[in-house]
Amino acid sequence: MIWAIIIALISAPFVWWLLILTKYKSLSKVPGPKPSPIIGNSLDIGQTPQDLLNSIVKWAKEFGTVYKVFIGNDVRVLISNPEITESVLSSNVHITKSNAYDLLKPWLGIGLLISTGKKWKSRRKLITPTFHFKILDQFLDVFNSCGNILVQRLAKEVGKNSVDVYPFINLCSLDIICETSMGVKIKAQQGNNTEYVEAVRSFLDIFIHRTFSVWKKIDALFRFSGMHKAYKQLLTILHQFTINIIVTSREKKSQKKTENITPDDGIKRKVALLEMLLESEENKMLSNEDIREEIDTFVFEGHDTTTSGIAFAILSLAENPEVQEKLYEEVVSVIDDIENITMQHLQEMKYLEMVLKEAQRLYPSVPVIERRLEVDCNIGGYDFPKDTFLSLFIYGMHHNEKYFPDPEKFDPYRYLPENQAQRHNYAYVPFSAGPRNCIGQKFAMLEMKTIIAKIVKNFKVLPVPDYKPDLGIAAILKSYNGVCVRLQHRQ
Ligand code: HEM
Repeated sequence: MIWAIIIALISAPFVWWLLILTKYKSLSKVPGPKPSPIIGNSLDIGQTPQDLLNSIVKWAKEFGTVYKVFIGNDVRVLISNPEITESVLSSNVHITKSNAYDLLKPWLGIGLLISTGKKWKSRRKLITPTFHFKILDQFLDVFNSCGNILVQRLAKEVGKNSVDVYPFINLCSLDIICETSMGVKIKAQQGNNTEYVEAVRSFLDIFIHRTFSVWKKIDALFRFSGMHKAYKQLLTILHQFTINIIVTSREKKSQKKTENITPDDGIKRKVALLEMLLESEENKMLSNEDIREEIDTFVFEGHDTTTSGIAFAILSLAENPEVQEKLYEEVVSVIDDIENITMQHLQEMKYLEMVLKEAQRLYPSVPVIERRLEVDCNIGGYDFPKDTFLSLFIYGMHHNEKYFPDPEKFDPYRYLPENQAQRHNYAYVPFSAGPRNCIGQKFAMLEMKTIIAKIVKNFKVLPVPDYKPDLGIAAILKSYNGVCVRLQHRQ
C-alpha cells in the first residue's frame, strides 16, 4: 500500500506534465525554447524584469514572431506579428486578460483594466465620456502647473554630471493623475502626502517582487511572507485615501443639490474624472467601492506609463541632438508663453507628436499585453486551445526590422503619412488598439507633450557618457539604472 502511494506521488508530476503536453498538442508545431519536464521554461526566463525582457527578445530573434513558452501549467504564445495582433486586438471576443494582471487586483479590484465580459462592457461605456475632449482641455491647467513645478525642480539639477530624471517625472505624473482623476492636489513634488506616495511606490515594488517569486505570487503562501503585514497596511492606506475623497465628493455633490447651485455658474471650474463618474452614477448606482476600483485604476494606469513615456523621450532627445534642436525650434516658434501651453499649441506641434510616437516605438511604456483565450480557436492559421495565454509582444514588434527598417535608429519621420502608409496598421500599437485600447491615450499624449515642450524649452538635454539604460519589464518598461541625462540652461 505504502509503495503504491509513493509511486503515485512520484509519478503525479509527470502525469500532470503529460496532461499539459496533451492539452497543448495542437501547438506542437509552434516553435519555442525546449521545455524541461514539469518546470517547462520557468528557469530559462530568468528571475528579474531585465532577464524577462532579454529572454523574450532573444527568443523572438531565434524563433520568429510567433513562439511558445511553458511556465508552470500555462502556455504563453508570444506574438510580435501585426496580422495576428490585429486578429486578437480587433476582436470583441478575445477581451479577457491573462493571470499576469491578478496581482494588481488587491489594489485595483476588478476595474476597467482587469474586468471582462458584461462588467467591462458596461463600465467602458460609462467611463468613455469622462475622457471627452472638453474635459481633457480643462486638464491643461493641471499639466501646466505641475509641469512648471517639475521645471523648477529640474533647474536645481543643472550642471550635474548625471541626473536620473525618472523620479522627478514620476512625482509630477502622480500629482497630475491625482488632481485630474480625484480633484485633489497631493503636492507630491513638494514633499506632501508622503504616506500615500510611498504606499503607491511600495505596492508596485511588491507587485513586481511577487511576479518574479515562485511562491509569493500564490496568495495562500504569501500570507506567511515577512512582507505580508506591511503589504496589508499599504493596501489600507491606498484604499482609504481614495474612499475618503469619494465620500467627500459625494457629500459636496449632495450639498450642492440641496442648495440648488448649478455647476454652470459662470466660473470656470475643473471637473475631475471622479465627478464625472458621480454624475453617471445617478443612472447606474455605482457604489463607493465600484468608483474606487475605477479611480485607482486611473492612478495605476495613468502615472507610471506617462512617466516612462516622458523619461525615455527625454533620453532619446539627449541621444539625438539634431532631433532635439529641431524640436526646440518648433517649441519656440509655436509657444509664446511656455508656462501656459494651450490645446492649440499642442495641436500645432506636429514634430513633437512624431518625436513622442518614435519614443513610444523604441521604448513602449507597456511592452507586453496579455489575453487568455476563453474558447478553442483558430487565429492566423494556429489552433489555440482554450486557456492559452496570448502575449502580444509590442516591444518585439516595434524593434523588428521587417516592420521598422533600421529599427534602433530614432527617426520621427517614420510617422509622416506617406511612411505610415507603407506599414501594417497594427505594427505600431503602443496604446493597444480595438475595443480594449487605452482609454487614456489622448490624455497621455497631451500630458506628455506639455511636459516635454517645457523641458525642451528650458533645458538643453545632453547624454551621459557611457550610460545605457538597463531595461526590464515590470508591467511597464523600466530602466534599472535610472534614466540619466545631463541638463544645461537654455538662454
Ligand atoms: C504613455 C502613456 C500610456 C500608455 C503607453 C498606455 C498604454 C495602454 C495599453 C497598452 C493598454 C492596454 C492594456 C492591456 O490590454 O493590458 C491600456 C489600457 C488602459 N489605459 Fe492606458 N496607457 C497610457 C496612459 C494612460 C492614462 C494616462 C490613463 C488614464 C488617465 C490610462 C488608462 C487606461 C485604462 C483605464 C486602460 C484599460 C482600458 C480597458 O481595458 O478598457 N492609460 N493603456
